Amino acid sequence: MVKVAVCGAAGGIGQPLSLLLKQSDLITHLALFDVVNAPGVAADLSHINTRSKVTGHGKESMDEALSGAHTVIIPAGVPRKPGMTRDDLFKINAGIIRDLAEGVAKNCPGAFVLVISNPVNSTVPIVCEVLKKHGVFNPKKVFGISTLDVVRSSRFASEINPAIDPKSTRVTVIGGHSGVTIVPILSQIPGQSFSKEQLEILTQRIQYGGDEVVKAKDGAGSATLSMAHAGARFATAVLEAAVTGKSGLVESTYVNLAADADATAAFRARTGLDYFAQDVEFGHEGVKRILPLPAISVFEQALLDEAIPELKVNIAKGTSFISDSA
Ligand code: NAD
Ligand code: LMR
Repeated sequence: MVKVAVCGAAGGIGQPLSLLLKQSDLITHLALFDVVNAPGVAADLSHINTRSKVTGHGKESMDEALSGAHTVIIPAGVPRKPGMTRDDLFKINAGIIRDLAEGVAKNCPGAFVLVISNPVNSTVPIVCEVLKKHGVFNPKKVFGISTLDVVRSSRFASEINPAIDPKSTRVTVIGGHSGVTIVPILSQIPGQSFSKEQLEILTQRIQYGGDEVVKAKDGAGSATLSMAHAGARFATAVLEAAVTGKSGLVESTYVNLAADADATAAFRARTGLDYFAQDVEFGHEGVKRILPLPAISVFEQALLDEAIPELKVNIAKGTSFISDSA
């Protein structure tokens, strides 16, 4: 039994993400939870002739949705409107994520938890602190999904240099998931030869790719379809490694650095942080290993230097949201 629960399943990301997950033969039960319209979305998806059973769970049924889940994916919460930063979402989304994490601790304490809701730099520490409070925290199993930055990086790079195949080129993106904390390591793209000006333009576009969509949607939300694609890609990698034992699966993701005891000291020495996005190889238990930082250029080191203080503030904000209320 591989039960996957999607929390926020009736939303802009939740619906297409659930549709993509319904295609997966790795999943036997897709449990859709939302405070509105989950039964409707579930009834619709349940007619698709793939392996998984689909169930819908409304406001009062969070426990039922999460009970025994193998993996919990969380796109619940509010998205940005033009003029807002991701951090502006903290006020509303922090409480939503805390309550869902409480639900995980109670109903599926061993589950993989994949967090999409913003601000990811703070919502992941919230989940970890709640699980710690309940004595069920396993840092190998909690992930912030920053895959959209990776997806954008190869797509945008291919627009500047058509020799780059956007589908097969995987760009490592380190740091976090918002503005200056997004640090794409473009210097490591095989065969790339961007000018200094192209690198600056490309980096800026990747760091603020989310704003491009928020602006274009003009008040109707942020990225949903590209995020569903990125979320399904990430969840599939985690599930393939955990369920089928497939090896060599690597994605950049925002994790608690305690997830890999061998890597922790080196990352802490370099960043001074407890959470960081970096390439991770997946295994049966989630994080198999956090890969060492790639070689980075002087330009990328300057970006990293700018990212670290902001990440520190974002992490402290998430952590203290739980510890201060204890
Ligand atoms: P949306 O408003 O379209 O959908 C959110 C859904 O969450 C709604 O259906 C809502 O009813 C539901 N919800 C609210 N409170 C809930 C609760 N307590 N329990 C369960 N469900 C609840 O928003 P969206 O466009 O799908 O975006 C969702 C989140 O994902 C936002 O915070 C957004 O910023 C974030 N996001 C992250 C990334 C990323 O790269 N990690 C990319 C895009 C969007
Ligand atoms: C994104 O990168 O598209 C998301 O984090 C949503 C946003 O607010 O930009």
